[in-house]
Amino acid sequence: MKSEGLPDDVFDGRPVVGICNTWSELTPCNRHLRDLAEHVKRGVWEAGGLPLEFPAMSLGETQMRPTAMLFRNLLAMEVEESIRGNPIDGVVLLGGCDKTTPGQLMGACSVDLPTVIISSGPMLNGKHCGEDIGSGTDVWKFSEAVRAGEMKIDEFLAAEAGMSRSPGTCMTMGSASTFACIVEAMGLSLPGNATIPAVDARRAAMSHLTGRTIVDMIKNDRRLSTILTRAHFENAIKVLTAIGGSTNATIHLLAIAGRLGIDLTLDDFDRIGSNVPVQANIKPSGDYLMEHFHYAGGVPALMNQMRDHLHGHLDTVLGQPIETYYEGAKVFNPAVIQPIEEVAGKPSGIWVLKGNIAPEGAIIKPSAASESLLSHTGRAVVFEDIEDYKARIDSPDLDVDENSILVLKGCGPKGYPGMPEVGNMALPKKLLEQGVRDMVRMSDARMSGTAFGTVILHVSPEAEAGGPLAVVRSGDVIELDGPGRRLTLCIDDAEMAARLEIRAAQPKENPHVRGYAKLYYDHVQQAHEGADLDFLVGCSGSVVERESH
Ligand code: FES
Repeated sequence: MKSEGLPDDVFDGRPVVGICNTWSELTPCNRHLRDLAEHVKRGVWEAGGLPLEFPAMSLGETQMRPTAMLFRNLLAMEVEESIRGNPIDGVVLLGGCDKTTPGQLMGACSVDLPTVIISSGPMLNGKHCGEDIGSGTDVWKFSEAVRAGEMKIDEFLAAEAGMSRSPGTCMTMGSASTFACIVEAMGLSLPGNATIPAVDARRAAMSHLTGRTIVDMIKNDRRLSTILTRAHFENAIKVLTAIGGSTNATIHLLAIAGRLGIDLTLDDFDRIGSNVPVQANIKPSGDYLMEHFHYAGGVPALMNQMRDHLHGHLDTVLGQPIETYYEGAKVFNPAVIQPIEEVAGKPSGIWVLKGNIAPEGAIIKPSAASESLLSHTGRAVVFEDIEDYKARIDSPDLDVDENSILVLKGCGPKGYPGMPEVGNMALPKKLLEQGVRDMVRMSDARMSGTAFGTVILHVSPEAEAGGPLAVVRSGDVIELDGPGRRLTLCIDDAEMAARLEIRAAQPKENPHVRGYAKLYYDHVQQAHEGADLDFLVGCSGSVVERESH
């Protein structure tokens, strides 16, 4: 370590702080994290600690193939072993793009040292032709407009450039912003973490303060297991609803709870969250963007407004109750953080659907759906996998109309593998040209938090694992009863049993012969369990008994 230019007296027993950084030029959302790490170091030095930065696998949502989610558990495993295997006393997690923060936190939970999170922060608002546009959400809209012949490709590319004009994560309420809000609401970061724009000097200042905080956490032995309780997850679920957050948060929170041994189920998301109104008017559920959210007061103002729904006494990384994060926080723009009484009664939360297609559950985000389609019966148009979908969706011969239900199989945790964000399948071109903009869609896939539509996701068990989704056929009638939380394939029980028997006689083999994909396929859990690897559930602590030096 002396080769790094460190003088003797820094090895005097002072707290050693690991700064776990997912910086990468292949992850543009995280490309400024080395700058933020320098600010963390200032705070650590100032508080009497020794900061040491180390890299962790960076999962760029827009780059990684076949899908970044395949590698969330690999990142978690790498982070866990890097923290445990190195002589550090506490860790600052620097992440942002969708899977980086959950993966890092899962790994850190399984070691259980003092841990604090800093998110990338959102990009500046997108700008195009005098309008505010949002990453992801408006890409989906514009790409459908291109396919429908309403937008030229040059204008699409100009909009893309106006949308991606700074470092930071998607500035809609996508999965990255959702998870940044959740970790702030759980008290695992400092206040302001979720919404201060990536390039705002206040994020650098917050990073500096976080450096001081981690040293204090080490001195006071404030660990994840001493901070986090089931009540923290209940607050997280309520805030998830209030922000109209990403459906991906269900999978990540279930996996994190599993690492900590906290009892949390998919049903909890509906039961705890669905009576909380969506108050953050942010795309894709609303009209505004993350920069607006920050200027309107951010997560503290939102939490203060919904304080009657929250547990206020819960511990945080600061050693103060979570209510100190939001006490007195004001809403500066009620168009962005809407008063509870004005938005009460509208569909909200994550609805958990059960029925003979999804015995372990499926989910839908009603705030991003068309209200008129939340109760709908239609004829299935089935695609056996994503290649089948791509080959036929725009065929003039596809037997589909606006009342059909598009069904996609083979995109669950094992099926793809990695459960890609393809559940918000683009609509058939011939229907787009007729002006249709939403249909009921159903799959074992996920969808981007920036996406919208009447989209049933995470059908569990997945088709690849032999779930009933595997036996749905084109022409079958499917009934979605959102308010009743039912999802039904309208065939009789004997017919369902016969189809499942045929399917069970043809079990799927692991198609991966080596490497991480093979390990993943053999061990990944289903979506309703958090899609962790079964042998990573739980915590092994931070103590390493042997050392070879
Ligand atoms: Fe990284 Fe959206 S692509 S946060």
